[in-house]
Amino acid sequence: MAIRERNPSVLCLILVSLIAVASAKVFFEERFEVGWENQWVKSDWKKDEKMAGEWNFTSGKWNGDPNDKGIQTSEDYRFYAISAEFPEVNNKDKTLVFQFSVKHEQKLDCGGGYMKLLSGDVDQKKFGGDTPYSIMFGPDICGYSTKKVHAILTYNETNHLIKKEVPCETDQLTHVYTFILRPDATYSILIDNVEKQTGSLYTDWDLLPPKQIKDPEAKKPEDWDEKEYIPDPEDKKPEGYDDIPKEIPDTDAKKPEDWDDEEDGEWTAPTIANPEYKGPWKPKKIKNPNYKGKWKAPLIDNPDFKDDPDLYVFPKLKYVGIELWQVKSGTLFDNVLVADDPEYAKTLAEETWGKQKDAEKAAFEEAEKKREEEESKDDPVDSDVEDEDDTDDAEGNETDSDTKTDASKDSEEIKEETEEDVHDEL
Ligand SMILES: *[C@@H]1O[C@H](CO)[C@@H](O)[C@H](O)[C@H]1NC(C)=O
Ligand SMILES: *[C@@H]1O[C@H](CO)[C@@H](O)[C@H](O)[C@H]1NC(C)=O
Ligand SMILES: *[C@@H]1O[C@H](CO)[C@@H](O)[C@H](O)[C@H]1NC(C)=O
Repeated sequence: MAIRERNPSVLCLILVSLIAVASAKVFFEERFEVGWENQWVKSDWKKDEKMAGEWNFTSGKWNGDPNDKGIQTSEDYRFYAISAEFPEVNNKDKTLVFQFSVKHEQKLDCGGGYMKLLSGDVDQKKFGGDTPYSIMFGPDICGYSTKKVHAILTYNETNHLIKKEVPCETDQLTHVYTFILRPDATYSILIDNVEKQTGSLYTDWDLLPPKQIKDPEAKKPEDWDEKEYIPDPEDKKPEGYDDIPKEIPDTDAKKPEDWDDEEDGEWTAPTIANPEYKGPWKPKKIKNPNYKGKWKAPLIDNPDFKDDPDLYVFPKLKYVGIELWQVKSGTLFDNVLVADDPEYAKTLAEETWGKQKDAEKAAFEEAEKKREEEESKDDPVDSDVEDEDDTDDAEGNETDSDTKTDASKDSEEIKEETEEDVHDEL
């Protein structure tokens, strides 16, 4: 980790806070400063189809420090793939921390904001959606249904999604995502240094077959009573119950004044439902004294389960990569870290995101205010034009709506294709 030119007092603070975590090993750290491109390889993936997006080296439209830049997706409807190599790491007996910050300036509606750790030898020029990876971690947003933090672990060449739901941030400000994997096979997911999820690799992913299974040989005993309620054997049908008629004559009905018995026949009152009639008799239900609850097969040790004490181990971590599809661009990554010490990661987050977040929020609110003002200035002009279209220019009206429909149809199609891509990949 190179110490770069910084404000001396900030540098001092960083040094002081780093003394506490002097034993931390940093495998990879990228703050994105001038020269960052020497560390990173832009992939040729999707270039032939002209679908490879360009990165913008910028601090974004709003920020807490205009000199602190990151890399931002800058073209809509594009694939992005970029990676950096670091000396090979084996996390056996070590804690592994993977952390980065990400800001979706575009009000992300469909796109990823996650990063990957890759192992072994990767042809970085060909890095893309099909390149096998070891860990994929970070936010993913698409429509209203997908707003989550991915934590995918590759085990035995299969990608396993975390089984717990971890919601991601959805605003337009910078957030820090941290994944911690420990040698006792526990993990934690943090957003902005706050733990959002934690648990065990054994229970929160299906990496191994389950330790215990239902005994396939077990059978429900014949006399096992699963009925919670039974008819009360003491209850008896009241006498005369079946004689109660379903309908009775309506006593309120009166023979119409102009009814002529000779011509109309004898008048009979219409019938109505009998309030006394309660349907066919059924005995009361009582709790079954022999009820034993729902039968469950007993659990036995799963003969297919073989523990793997190295379940958490990725022996050849060597690259960090970003591989994304974005409908709307504007996602800005910064402060990427791969290390062995959660305290170091926490300090890094505090020194970067933590120090800048208030100023960034103020800058964002200022930018929003300006945008709203401009929109309200433009609005009257816009609606005039629309009115004219509606009344005077019938053909223009038709053409307009046709173009719009086509454009949105296209984007729907691309979105669907890509969602399939992501699913294939998983
Ligand atoms: C890069 O980002 C800056 C700041 O948001 C913006 O002004 C500029 O237009 C962007 N450049 C490209 C090529 O997107
Ligand atoms: C690895 O995956 C293969 C194919 O899915 C499977 O047959 C094998 O049992 C798995 N091994 C372990 C240790 O899970
Ligand atoms: C203009 O477009 C609207 C909405 O698409 C449609 O309902 C209306 O009939 C159109 N008017 C003309 C004159 O084509």
